[in-house]
Amino acid sequence: MKKHITVAIDGNAASGKGTLAKKLAEYFNYAYLDTGKLYRAAALLIMEKGIDYKDIKKVIKVIKDYNFYNSNLKDNFLKSDEIGTLASLISGYQELRNILLTYQRKFAYEQHDNKLGVILDGRDIGSVVLPEANIKFFITASISVRTERRWKELISLGQSTIKRHVEEDIRDRDKRDSNRKNSPLIASQDAILIDTTNLEANEVFSLAKKHIEEYLL
Ligand code: DC
Repeated sequence: MKKHITVAIDGNAASGKGTLAKKLAEYFNYAYLDTGKLYRAAALLIMEKGIDYKDIKKVIKVIKDYNFYNSNLKDNFLKSDEIGTLASLISGYQELRNILLTYQRKFAYEQHDNKLGVILDGRDIGSVVLPEANIKFFITASISVRTERRWKELISLGQSTIKRHVEEDIRDRDKRDSNRKNSPLIASQDAILIDTTNLEANEVFSLAKKHIEEYLL
């Protein structure tokens, strides 16, 4: 039987990790989980219920009762900056992270139809969720390039926004995600670093593809 391959991709907001993960998953026929969407789904839930994110007990209670397996992670509203910020704010709660950790590990190790492996992207995949992943990538890009990319994405989704606000949001999230006590954004020692500042999406893909192919030899 062929080995089940696990790929971990981490990086900061709008670094290009999602685009890369999707392309790799399609090319290698791996199942893909955007773990940021789980945190965003949790944020949407507490927003819809009108819960103050600082009320940890209430936040945890609704998240515990929620079935992430049946949630619709495709909702475009999940991509809004408002939800992204709220997701980042609640992602520091260890209990919430534990609930989502179980979901992520289950996804990583279950068989997905004819898929040959899995790719998970997020902030702590290589360090906490899948420390034993076969291949790890850590994706970065300059703040100005990330702002431009994120701004274009929001516009394409029909969400009118000002570039300066997008940049502020990215800076705030970088700071929060990297400095929090629980599972901060961190490059694992064994991760392959890719700076996408001066690279097109196809170039990033080719680079990462080569690394996976070398591993598979
Ligand atoms: O990747 P994203 O922008 O969709 O993630 C939204 C927020 O969710 C991010 O700012 C921090 C949190 N997150 C996390 O803490 N751990 C992950 N593995 C993925 C996302």
